[in-house]
Amino acid sequence: MQEYFSVTGNGPINGTVTVSGAKNAALPLLIAGLLTEERCTFKNVPNIHDVHLLLQLLAHSGSIVEREGSLIHISTPKIVSVEASYSLVKALRASFWVLAPLLARAGKAKVALPGGDSIGARPVDLHLEGLEKMGARIQVVHGVVDADAPNGLNGAQINLRFTSVGATHQLLLAAALAKGRTVISGAAKEPEVVALGEMLRGMGLEIKGHGSDEIEIIGRESLSGTDVTVIGDRIEAGTYAMIAASTRGHIEIKGFDPKHLGSFLDVMKEIGLEITINDNGIVVKASSNLKPVNLTTEVFPGFATDLQAVTMAALTTIEGESSIREEIFEGRFGHVAELSRMGAKIAIQDHTAIISGGSKLSGAPVSGLDIRAAAALVVAALAAEGETKIFEPYHLFRGYDGLDLKLVSLGANAKITMENPEEHLFSGC
Ligand code: UD1
Repeated sequence: MQEYFSVTGNGPINGTVTVSGAKNAALPLLIAGLLTEERCTFKNVPNIHDVHLLLQLLAHSGSIVEREGSLIHISTPKIVSVEASYSLVKALRASFWVLAPLLARAGKAKVALPGGDSIGARPVDLHLEGLEKMGARIQVVHGVVDADAPNGLNGAQINLRFTSVGATHQLLLAAALAKGRTVISGAAKEPEVVALGEMLRGMGLEIKGHGSDEIEIIGRESLSGTDVTVIGDRIEAGTYAMIAASTRGHIEIKGFDPKHLGSFLDVMKEIGLEITINDNGIVVKASSNLKPVNLTTEVFPGFATDLQAVTMAALTTIEGESSIREEIFEGRFGHVAELSRMGAKIAIQDHTAIISGGSKLSGAPVSGLDIRAAAALVVAALAAEGETKIFEPYHLFRGYDGLDLKLVSLGANAKITMENPEEHLFSGC
């Protein structure tokens, strides 16, 4: 049976939706559980395929994992395997971040290089350079990072040449069990980095500056267990906001901190969306009179690259010329060809997409190449005439907890025809 997500536009999407815990926060937090022998408890963990994959890797490394819905307990009395295979790291790039905790706890690690994927080359040079500065000996042999630090890692001054969320996570995880003081300059400031810093503090670490571009950590010989609640998913929230925009709907989006949207909030206002900010979310109301916009993706608090595709989908429905410049991932325009199949008019010049919006979209068979590209197709499909079949729908379930159920509860005509998403292995962020 061919698997696809069927979406048929049926007018404005209205109602209330609660976002789940953030994928991009849950992954580094769960990995941080490897740093201690003691039990860590995680609340509000999204029920998505990327989390399931990571839990498999943690169990392989020696973690005892107990799961009750969105509540997960992890304890890792001993690291029993220091290897992470290519199939896993390729399927879930974030699993590369186990390198630092394995190295810090077991003195060695063998983790496959993630390699390129559908949104660009995505090297890990900053991760490796930082770990070497902390005393790790690293060789890359046959595509596997073979690292050892028999006497443990040492604190260091690390200047990241440019901002990387993943390298900041990796080096925070390394610094936590390193001897002495580490300073990471040029650190990422994303809410997910702050969440990791807070969890490490909860484990007894002395850490300051997370959320700024310089983080200081005094490493400890051992860390304690902790209880954390995963922050709400700002990218899922932004996706529902763009569904309100593309369908000219009115959606209350709950379960996250609106400050985590950064300049996405300003862009929504510039488009002409009416935004009400609450403590625990936002209300987005679209009139029929929306305006085009020019934007560039940037590191936080700038416009998030993970919201680029869904925003582009919404802009195709708005009369006039918009532009989006992608500054974070050079290859992140895979959704453009698919949106064009639905009647969108988008031209790419270098790193910029020029969107000539306003023509009516029509349902078509399309494929999602990564999580956010697939989400963009949902945003477009809900505004299109007729049925859109989104093939390779498992990408959606890597990052969007209960997407089909949440859309149906908002009155959308959406249905998944997928037998077993667990069988698929894929790449992307
Ligand atoms: C994380 C997010 C992803 C988001 C991205 C940027 C997770 C699981 N994924 O990905 O959803 O789109 O942040 O906000 O949290 N780079 C290098 N060398 C390195 C590291 C990165 O050249 O050693 C480059 C990348 O190719 C990219 C840029 O730096 O061009 C930013 O990447 P990075 O912030 O590291 O993204 P990820 O952590 O992979």
